[in-house]
Amino acid sequence: MIADTNYIGKSTRRVDGRKKVTGQAPYIAEFNPADLVHGYIVNSTIARGRITAIHKDKALNVPGVREVFTHENVPPEVKINSDYTDPLAPPGSPFRPLYDDNILYNGQPVALVVADTFETAAYAAGLVKIEYEAEEGYEVDIRRNLEQATHEDVPEPPEPRGNAAEAYDSSEVKIETEYYQPREYHNPMETFASVASWNEEEGSFNIYDKIQGVSSSQGYIAGIFNLEKEKVRVISPFIGGAFGSGLRPQYQLFFAAMASKALKLPVKVVMTRTQMFTFGHRPACLQRVKLSADKKGKLTSIRHEAFSETSRFEKFNETVVDWSGLMYQCENVELDYQLVPVDVYTPLDMRAPGGSTGMYALECAMDELAVEAGVDPLELRIINYAEKDQNEDKPYSSKELKACYQRAAEKFGWQNRNAKSRSIKKGNELVGYGMASGVWEAMQQKSSAKAILTSEGKLTVSSGTADIGTGTYTIMSQIAAEMLGISLEHVEFKLGDSTLPDAPIEGGSWTASSVGSAVKLVCSALQEKIFELATQTHPDIFENKLFEDVVFDNGQISGNSGTAVSFSEIITAAGRKSLEVQVNSEPEDNRENYSCYTHSCVMVEVNIDEDTGMISIPKVVSAIAGGKILNPKTAESQIIGGVTWGIGMALEEEGMMDSRNGRIMNANLAEYHVAVHADVKEIDVIFVEEQDDIVNPLGAKGLGEIGIVGVAAAIANAVYNATGKRVRDLPITLDKVL
Ligand code: MOS
Repeated sequence: MIADTNYIGKSTRRVDGRKKVTGQAPYIAEFNPADLVHGYIVNSTIARGRITAIHKDKALNVPGVREVFTHENVPPEVKINSDYTDPLAPPGSPFRPLYDDNILYNGQPVALVVADTFETAAYAAGLVKIEYEAEEGYEVDIRRNLEQATHEDVPEPPEPRGNAAEAYDSSEVKIETEYYQPREYHNPMETFASVASWNEEEGSFNIYDKIQGVSSSQGYIAGIFNLEKEKVRVISPFIGGAFGSGLRPQYQLFFAAMASKALKLPVKVVMTRTQMFTFGHRPACLQRVKLSADKKGKLTSIRHEAFSETSRFEKFNETVVDWSGLMYQCENVELDYQLVPVDVYTPLDMRAPGGSTGMYALECAMDELAVEAGVDPLELRIINYAEKDQNEDKPYSSKELKACYQRAAEKFGWQNRNAKSRSIKKGNELVGYGMASGVWEAMQQKSSAKAILTSEGKLTVSSGTADIGTGTYTIMSQIAAEMLGISLEHVEFKLGDSTLPDAPIEGGSWTASSVGSAVKLVCSALQEKIFELATQTHPDIFENKLFEDVVFDNGQISGNSGTAVSFSEIITAAGRKSLEVQVNSEPEDNRENYSCYTHSCVMVEVNIDEDTGMISIPKVVSAIAGGKILNPKTAESQIIGGVTWGIGMALEEEGMMDSRNGRIMNANLAEYHVAVHADVKEIDVIFVEEQDDIVNPLGAKGLGEIGIVGVAAAIANAVYNATGKRVRDLPITLDKVL
């Protein structure tokens, strides 16, 4: 038994906040082992073809340069073995840096210059001249390549139900639309970096890597160099943002490890901002949606097909269209998802991968249907509300989306909306209101955790998970403090080290649920151990008690007579220095009988200057049903972050390719715009009460992804409400609304 809530559900400052703001939290590029040398990567300038000659003498002559590695001189012992392993690789044949003379995409890393300083390496890299034989006929635009769309190696969306085509044809209200979303690039503040030290004697690596899960890098390095996993230690204590970009190991990791093993020196490789545009992105996606309804707005059919970009060598896939079969009550549904290979690097997960894309199209289409049916867009969602998972015909573990709609509408003042476009003005600005629903899966993965309680009363809980900035350190410390019954100041949570108990990569919004459940379990196991010991050390108090009868609180265990003994006292009396427990936790079987999702309703006001087309967003309300909220403060930050990224997606983000050479033209933060402080005004986050005893033992669903889902649609719908213009290709720049 534990006492009333002390920490879970209470706003708590980040336990690592002070370290971060005082520079005490080391990021990967700040690790400097003795004798460190620096690598700088050279990238290809063509999109497809071969390397025909490499001129590196000038670079090698620069004082301080140690080596220039290319596919021609990678020593055999550090050549990637062909059974290459990347735990998260999609189907296909992963790109292998410095493997041969083939060029698969523009920006492909083709050489590494290693020197005594970063500056020397960067300078010398500019002196490496590479000659290519470029192949013609490459293609970087999926819209010009749709005839190559394929279902091969692509997970099937849910089976069709009913007869969507027939229902569509015989319905009174219908829409048919097409939406396009360009490729978007990851731009976390911290660029990717690795510091690798090869130990020749032990045949082992010690690696600092920016990664969303140390197991991912460990598996990759062990796989490509044919090593036992135990010979590869990966450490990654702090991450300056990632959200998908750090799920798969990035190429700088290979370069640092390869060079370290070849030179027998520690090597650091840090990507430049421009190189951050060379390793994967949210794929461009073309979506066609057909919806039909009766006169009252009751859906009669949903058809949603998506064409997503992938590379020529891997079939990157994400869940884009399934949401359209899930979200609304509808008997006739047909979904299709295909991949279009083009000459770019393999796309990559980016915050709410697939969900933010698919829900953008569906929720814009719902708005178009609302207009067609003459029904309020919010009302349309309520008319078609699904009480069950429509794809799997299963009940939800919990679903408070209706409450999200209601609370968002109240807070936002949805009733002030005028359905007629161009009907509300503020000075020279057109005012528009738009809304959308959001959804994301609430997943749980197997996780392990270890707890050590010392005779001084200090608790250390550890798990090989990550904190990509989401607040893992903080919520895990809260869960541990709460579940053991100890003060938060006496808890330390450790993560980001492959020697710690196994945990999944931090992704999919599953860390709170997965690692949190392991932390809860390990603390319960520790309580049992403490109790068992207490019956021996303090038999007068505990001998005749049951575990269920005692209370753990404030670092003490007490019987119902009220006599309390501290954990330290018990451990000391037993002649021990510490107690240690390790557990594995996994989802409960019962979960299989339910569908587990987070939901949201997002409402947006846009103001659009009638003369310039400039769009500003004075207000966003995001109401979230995410189960138990462990820490409202960090939870709110997650949603604000997601909404902010959604603003970027709607109005700014677009990776532009030069079709002549397949090169991204705006590979910098001056020309690839992301939402910044000036773009973001009021964001109100509401957490709707949602009790869930099925999703996991904590009842918490995870909040990393849901914040972005629906935001771009709500903005596009508000732009329509303001101007009467449907902009169906993102981003909605001012030229498109004029
Ligand atoms: Mo997330 S896009 O799985 O980091």
